[in-house]
Amino acid sequence: MVCLGNICRSPLAEGIAQNLIHHKKLDWIVDSAGTTGWHEGSSPDKRSIAVAKDHDIDISGLRARQIRQAELPDWDLIVAMDAQNYQDIRRLDPEVTGTRLHMMMNFLYPGQNRPVPDPYYGSKKDFEEVYTMLYQACEAMLEELTSAR
Ligand code: 4NP
Repeated sequence: MVCLGNICRSPLAEGIAQNLIHHKKLDWIVDSAGTTGWHEGSSPDKRSIAVAKDHDIDISGLRARQIRQAELPDWDLIVAMDAQNYQDIRRLDPEVTGTRLHMMMNFLYPGQNRPVPDPYYGSKKDFEEVYTMLYQACEAMLEELTSAR
């Protein structure tokens, strides 16, 4: 799960996906990172922690980190929150093609390339909307991935 700072959207996506994976008794590994190292080592944004907690998901132990070029071949699936994240990942490794690199909302709205909007300068309501988008997209993602197996 990749966003810009790894403090707002992608830690929420990691927490939600982890929760759904656990419920489905899958043994998949999920992680998150930012395209930048601006918040390296920081906890998720307080508002992301709060909205996750409202849904009984604890993301307070996560710490921000920057994605590394060397790790990209190791992941079966790399999920970008918006088009900028997608382009930045492609720039880091042009070999990461459409089969492994996806825009999050395309699991719900195929081919539309809708962004998960950056809520950093927004309100708690924006974080709640991001949570709902991520939850629905993660459910669609797991549905697609498990039915394809
Ligand atoms: P994120 O949100 O990419 O969802 O973690 C942001 C976090 C920090 C900044 C921008 C977006 N920032 O400008 O520091």
